[in-house]
Amino acid sequence: MTSLAIGSGLPDQPIPHAMILPVGDDEFEAELFCRELNLFLEATMRPRLRTIYETRIHPELVERLGREPTRREIAKAMREVEVNKLWYSLRTQTQQAMYKVAGEIIERQAPSLKQAARNLENGPGTLTLDPDLEIPRYMQALDTHNLQGGYHTEREADDLRAGAIYDRNMTVNRMGMQGALTDDSGITMSGWIESAFPDLKPKRILEMGCTVGHTLVPFKQRFPDAEVIGIDVAAPCLRYGHARAAALGADVHFSQQNAETTNFPDGSFDLVYSYILLHETSAKALPNIIRECHRLLRPGGVMMHGEAPQFDELDAYTASLRDWDITCNYEPFMDTIYELNLEEIYRDAGFAPGASFRHFIPSEHVRKNGVDPRITRNGGKFFVTGAVK
Ligand SMILES: C[S@@+](CC[C@H](N)C(=O)[O-])C[C@H]1O[C@@H](n2cnc3c(N)ncnc32)[C@H](O)[C@@H]1O
Repeated sequence: MTSLAIGSGLPDQPIPHAMILPVGDDEFEAELFCRELNLFLEATMRPRLRTIYETRIHPELVERLGREPTRREIAKAMREVEVNKLWYSLRTQTQQAMYKVAGEIIERQAPSLKQAARNLENGPGTLTLDPDLEIPRYMQALDTHNLQGGYHTEREADDLRAGAIYDRNMTVNRMGMQGALTDDSGITMSGWIESAFPDLKPKRILEMGCTVGHTLVPFKQRFPDAEVIGIDVAAPCLRYGHARAAALGADVHFSQQNAETTNFPDGSFDLVYSYILLHETSAKALPNIIRECHRLLRPGGVMMHGEAPQFDELDAYTASLRDWDITCNYEPFMDTIYELNLEEIYRDAGFAPGASFRHFIPSEHVRKNGVDPRITRNGGKFFVTGAVK
């Protein structure tokens, strides 16, 4: 069997598609080590930090403040706790180690990866790039997820490395967290759309911020008769995503566009959605994106955004856990985006008052495969908000 490890004594992991590169024994061990360390930090150590908070830090804060602490006060206090400092440091180092290992695997086989993409360039599906598209300033200003160059940086012609690293980290290093194809988000959210809006029967579907198509492909599989289009500003991710989707036999279309101002006509979609896009945009870009969703939907069409829950859905301690992402993982916008009144922004964009929704959807991956929710990205649930036009 072709596997992720070449000749390793470790259990074989089948390669999920043609764009995932095979690895040698040492690389396999290194990836396995990073994956296990990550799981240990999430599933074993995170709950211990909560115990420290509940038994020591929370009583101290209440005593000092004379009231319950806010998420920011909790985060500030926890930053002083030695084991929490260690957790922050190990989590950051594990992430850097993952990038290093994935980067070396991809670098070593760069010609094969490019060739694999060329073999798949005729589809199914299409790729439309716009070399003149301006990358939003909020993306240029920081290396999102602490990955050098973020999603968009191109180091050579036809570069697809940022997409390859993203897929490798989600699919190989976090294997099991979101399904073998990192498709739990798309399977779960598209299933919910089908059952919550049985009359929608979408014929045209747009994903904003599709990266390499992890969520896009399952939407096509759920609604095979629909035209399914994914937009993103990052060319390396779109190139990789097109090849990956073609390798999976999915007839989906990738287009390089800014979600704030797309080139599609008014009212031309039945469903416009995103998954973990909003928290990576600025508080200025977000309302523009919502207005664009409203413009693109036909009357009766549905807008849905899958995200981590807004802070008002969480207890203050759980909300404070975003502090690592905000301070160490170059995701500063989480601090404000998860605090916004989305429903007000939906109304300002033209959606009728009362037309919005919020929902927690149980993960299909957890339900079907009995996966421990602690090791899933979302604790076993997907949070969606949106509105019907
Ligand atoms: C976390 S990723 C989304 C993951 C993806 N939806 C999935 O399911 O795998 C965020 C993506 O949003 C893209 N992005 C950020 N701002 C954007 C904008 N204004 N327009 C289009 N894409 C944007 C980034 O390039 C990045 O690929």
